Order: sequence, then C-alpha cells, then structure tokens
Amino acid sequence: MYPEELCKLAIEAMGHAYVPYSGYKVGAALLCADGAVYQGCNIENAAYSPTNCAERTAFFKAVYDGHRDFTAIAVCGGKDGVIAGAFPPCGVCRQVMREFCKDDFLIYLVNGQGYETVTLAQLLPYGFRAGEHMSANG
Ligand code: THU
Repeated sequence: MYPEELCKLAIEAMGHAYVPYSGYKVGAALLCADGAVYQGCNIENAAYSPTNCAERTAFFKAVYDGHRDFTAIAVCGGKDGVIAGAFPPCGVCRQVMREFCKDDFLIYLVNGQGYETVTLAQLLPYGFRAGEHMSANG
C-alpha cells in the first residue's frame, strides 16, 4: 500500500473521532506486515485522562485481532477536523508503538500539503521494552 493511501484512510478515520471536550479530531491508519489496515480515532472522556488517542485505538484494535507485526502508521488531526499541520503522536502513543515496533517503523504525519515521514527511532530513541532495558531496539 502506498503511503498516500494510508494517509487517506487516516483522514477518513478522523471523521469517527468523539471529541466533545477538545474539538481536536485525530485519525490514524495502521498498516500491518500482512497488508491489513486498522483505523483509529481519538475517543475523549469527561474525566479527561481516560481519553484514548487515535493511534492507540488503531493499535489496540489490531492487537486484539491477533496482529503484532506493523510496518507504518499514518496520523492526522486538527481542530474541528481541519488539518493545519502535522499532528505528531503523544509520548504515550510512542511508547505503545515501541512495544510492538522496531526503530524502522514508519510514521506518516499528514500535514496541509501532503505528509512528512519520520521513524520510530526519531520519535522515541532509547525505547523501553521488557527484557530490553534501555536498549535502542534496533
Ligand atoms: N490526541 C490523539 O488522538 N493522538 C495524539 O497522539 C495526540 C493527542 C488526541 C487526544 C485528545 O482527544 C486530543 O487529541 C487533544 O489533545
């Protein structure tokens, strides 16, 4: 699947966001190694901290279905669903990515014009996984 297609699926996923508190709609599309794609949106909560980000929604859906090998994720977001620039994953989502993905996992950050590509190694170097304490998970 081309990155542009994954980005389109992230934009579509943004439309599913439940955001009565912030108004920031976020969408994600996660590409599994076998070609399956899982979409996710952010789901907010009146108590704020139970809010689930779009990226984690996509990961948790995929893992529930038995997927553990991932190639890339496209992410987009913006106030009222208007994409004004890249919407990079939060620290908690980066850590969830690190649980399942290696340094070369690709993150496509959808911006107004197209997308920027970064790797997990760039977003979260020196990642932590059980049994690999403080290693870079290369
Ligand atoms: N959000 C995401 O969905 N993904 C991120 O990586 C950053 C933040 C959501 C959480 C909240 O619903 C809204 O964006 C504003 O922070």
